[in-house]
Amino acid sequence: MTQSHPRISKAVIPAAGLGTRFLPATKATPKEMLPVVDKPAIQYVVEEAVSAGLDDVLMITGRNKRPLEDHFDRNYELESALQKKGDAGRLAKVQESSDLATMHYVRQGDPRGLGHAVLCAAPHVGHEPFAVLLGDDLIDPRDPLLARMVEVQEQRGGSVIALMEVAPEQIHLYGCAAVDPTDDADVVKVHDLVEKPAAADAPSNYAIIGRYVLDPHIFDILRKTEPGRGNEIQLTDALQQLAADEKVGGPVHGVVFKGRRYDTGDRGDYLRAIVRLACEREDLGPDFRTWLRSYVAEEM
Ligand code: G1P
Repeated sequence: MTQSHPRISKAVIPAAGLGTRFLPATKATPKEMLPVVDKPAIQYVVEEAVSAGLDDVLMITGRNKRPLEDHFDRNYELESALQKKGDAGRLAKVQESSDLATMHYVRQGDPRGLGHAVLCAAPHVGHEPFAVLLGDDLIDPRDPLLARMVEVQEQRGGSVIALMEVAPEQIHLYGCAAVDPTDDADVVKVHDLVEKPAAADAPSNYAIIGRYVLDPHIFDILRKTEPGRGNEIQLTDALQQLAADEKVGGPVHGVVFKGRRYDTGDRGDYLRAIVRLACEREDLGPDFRTWLRSYVAEEM
């Protein structure tokens, strides 16, 4: 069933979290700015949005998040110093992040959960479907996910969430979806959602990973959504309502992701992301892999 929709062009990135899992590194630096190899984690997320065709990016920020704005802005002093030195390679790296997308920022003020952060995007987004990308989830650039989600939204309407099968003992860390298969192998229909259930109560092992393409009706629902788990306004609870009533902006589908995803909010996964991406890099990879092989051989 093909429906006609406005083309999706806006991405929303909630980035107001405190990053307590990385203290003391995040005492004065936003967690989104922690480097993954030599790029801040947030730049991978913006690049992902842009490569899926979404080049209007709204970041939901808070206090102490100024470095994010600076990173995606020009830095004339640095640029002219590099120009004078004739260092074209580094100059290009500095300019890359400011040329990437049209950036917008809004402050969340009183952080009341992910649902509340998304609601802060309402005036900017208007009445179009839009994407939400959570900064802690890093999707390996070699395994595109968002472009497929946009395609599924264009074909089926409503909202599309990213799902990944996880071990039952992990499901309490995620939103969890009850699903039915569709005629597309990687697409499921979502009929129920629950935020961070105990393993025994989980309706499936399909975990929501931090990519969403949302119907703008989500804003009306979020305005009425009561605080849920953790006394926060949960995006999962609002999506649950969309899934339950197709007449108000549903349906909700899931794209089942089988590629590489790192939770850069988790210290172990953050280290794994750096090692994997560094190994693949043309400039650093060959030397790093040689060192890693001998390090592992000595240590194990
Ligand atoms: C959020 C969502 C959760 C989702 C997760 C993905 O939780 O509330 O449904 O599974 O992101 O990373 P958070 O990890 O921010 O607590």
